[in-house]
Amino acid sequence: MSDLDKLFCPKSVAIVGASKNPKKIGYELVSNILAGGYEGKLFPVNPEGADVMGLKSFTSVKLIPGDVDLAVIAVPAVYVADVIEDCGQKGIKSLIVISSGFKEVGNTELEDKILSIVRKYGMRMLGPNVFGLYYAPSRMNATFGLSRVFPGNIAFITQSGALGIAMMGWTNLYHIGVSAVISMGNKADIEESDMLDYLTGDEMTKAVLIYIEGAKDGRRLMASLKGSTLKKPVIILKSGRTEKGASAAASHTGSLAGSDKVYDAAFKQSGALRAYDFAQAFDWAKLMTLQPPPQNENCLIITNGGGVGVMTTDACEESGVTIWPLPDDLQSEFKKLMPVFGNFKNPVDLTGQAYEESYSKSLELAFKDPRIGSIIVLYCQTAITDPVAIAKSIIDTCESQHCDKPLVASFIGGQQCDEAMRKLDERAIPAYPIPERAVSALASYYRWKRYTDRLEEKSAQS
Ligand code: COA
Repeated sequence: MSDLDKLFCPKSVAIVGASKNPKKIGYELVSNILAGGYEGKLFPVNPEGADVMGLKSFTSVKLIPGDVDLAVIAVPAVYVADVIEDCGQKGIKSLIVISSGFKEVGNTELEDKILSIVRKYGMRMLGPNVFGLYYAPSRMNATFGLSRVFPGNIAFITQSGALGIAMMGWTNLYHIGVSAVISMGNKADIEESDMLDYLTGDEMTKAVLIYIEGAKDGRRLMASLKGSTLKKPVIILKSGRTEKGASAAASHTGSLAGSDKVYDAAFKQSGALRAYDFAQAFDWAKLMTLQPPPQNENCLIITNGGGVGVMTTDACEESGVTIWPLPDDLQSEFKKLMPVFGNFKNPVDLTGQAYEESYSKSLELAFKDPRIGSIIVLYCQTAITDPVAIAKSIIDTCESQHCDKPLVASFIGGQQCDEAMRKLDERAIPAYPIPERAVSALASYYRWKRYTDRLEEKSAQS
């Protein structure tokens, strides 16, 4: 059992600073927890003892009957130490401190004071200065971010609160499912390493995405990354890459960004995948949470457009994805599925006359052949074919075959292509509007797979 179990899966939660006023954070916290479908006990705490959203309130955590596993604190900073002392006396072991007004504004003394109370009672504290924690397995949305979050398999840990809340909106827009959203704030007690260690053992989380400006304890973070990347991909977005960016990070969260080259080397050594922008990070995570890792180095491209096939081949070659020269036996199989002017080498070009059946038959061939380790399927909009019908044929083929290799798709065209890609995404086939984005995701999956294979080989030799 981890000492963070009560933070992630509490049976009872107190919201200190709960308010009836819909404009206050203390209202939003109660409202989001209720909207998320949390099934444990919920206790608002407010000096008036006034009921909040139909729930009985208490004037102090100490007056709540029975055990409380987690306290979420949203009162002005000057009252936080007293509230934490009460929580300690009540036997509460986990805290989320939403309140700002500590180290981030130079109030180091107050932050040290609350930390010493946390230590005195053996509690664990997330924050201060956070927007909260969402955890899908416990259906707990203890944040003042969005009330609606799609459950899924990406865990998102963020040092920036505003960015974190914005990302919750963004994942909603693109229907990207998350297993956890964690705001790190000032990291007085709990750091990214604690969260990574916890999420490594979390079954729902298939990939972890971290936004970080600077590590408090670089060595510890590296050790946690090494442990996590063995089990699941960890994607890192570290800002402060440039001198000016680093100084902006110092004034944003007080992070000592350190030399970016050192971070870069540390991420590589620990098998973490460094992304350079949010779209890229989520593109990668989408593939890694929806599809199995590559089975071998041989990648196959299936397309209906020669030009886009060539561009995708370039992107693959440049990013370390090997386009497999197809052996004669497979060439002659593919040849049967296309008009005489098609191309049965890799990329396999089914031509602009490729209908649903050409795609499904080609995919069947590719799924069945163990020499193929990954597949990129491309579609360019044409006047004589229907992208949504083609997407459906791809989905049906995937679902009727046992496929142990990753498949990524890119549909290039207008609104109908968007609709087709939404259908693919919904059925766990990651689709991207630009083929280079699909290749970038696949290349990052290959990097992670090669890293873990190397480690496995080494440990087998020793
Ligand atoms: N115990 C219980 N409740 C208390 C309390 C205490 N010791 N002290 C105050 N409260 C209650 C208040 O009475 C109020 O409830 P009410 O609306 O029913 O009167 C509620 O807690 C909030 O207190 P209030 O003084 O109205 O503060 P606020 O809501 O304006 O602000 C914070 C409180 C915590 C939200 C604010 O101080 C803050 O830190 N905001 C920044 C949060 C943030 O951005 N975090 C980082 C995100 S990344």
